[in-house]
Amino acid sequence: MTNPNNDINSYYSKRAPEYEQIYYRDIPERQQEIADIEIYLENLVTGKSILELACGTGYWTVCMSKSAKCIISSDYSAEMITEAKKKTYICPTQFVQADMYSMPIPAHSVDLAVFGFWFSHEPKQKYERFFKLIKSFVKKDGQIWLLDNNSPAEGDEYKSTGTDEHGNNYKQRFLDNGEEYSVLKNYFDEKLLKEIFDADFEIEELVYKKYYWHILLKPKSS
Ligand SMILES: C[S@@+](CC[C@H](N)C(=O)[O-])C[C@H]1O[C@@H](n2cnc3c(N)ncnc32)[C@H](O)[C@@H]1O
Repeated sequence: MTNPNNDINSYYSKRAPEYEQIYYRDIPERQQEIADIEIYLENLVTGKSILELACGTGYWTVCMSKSAKCIISSDYSAEMITEAKKKTYICPTQFVQADMYSMPIPAHSVDLAVFGFWFSHEPKQKYERFFKLIKSFVKKDGQIWLLDNNSPAEGDEYKSTGTDEHGNNYKQRFLDNGEEYSVLKNYFDEKLLKEIFDADFEIEELVYKKYYWHILLKPKSS
């Protein structure tokens, strides 16, 4: 196919019922990284009010609900929210279907904002807008946690389909029915991550492994 669809919202909505396959690929080292992240996240959210953006099927919501005080989880895709609502959550958890850029919640109202596997889809030319957004969610002294993957987590089966004028990478993806997409997906080494976040945030912790990285940020007071 020469002109694959690059509509990320259509891609994730159609992928909702099959999305969680990504968590169950049988590579022990990769599974261990996911297990370590689950322990880290459960500790991090203990007793906190959480806003989760781009929550998808609620994989990380389940984990956070074991120890968080309360969670608002949101996603643009109604299909993703439908999948997420099928799960059981321990702490009070509310789902909202919304674009993260028009969240119906008061500014600076949560202890921690969480983004699982979103930052790699954020266009580079829009980082300034994104940083402003994520700072607006959290209370004074609140934190932001971003989790994402490195290229090895996706295996060898998908090709890069090129870059755009802003340096964003596009990656070939297929739904189970064979439909092809080309999705904006950027990858980062540790040094680049530090450079990207350093101006706007205190980097409280950066954990960078073979398959996944996650970063804990606190907005710098301006
Ligand atoms: C890679 S998935 C991550 C799902 C989940 N956080 C996880 O880690 O399993 C990206 C999610 O972002 C959602 N999404 C895309 N654009 C969005 C937007 N503008 N606002 C909120 N969610 C969005 C998609 O529907 C999809 O569920």
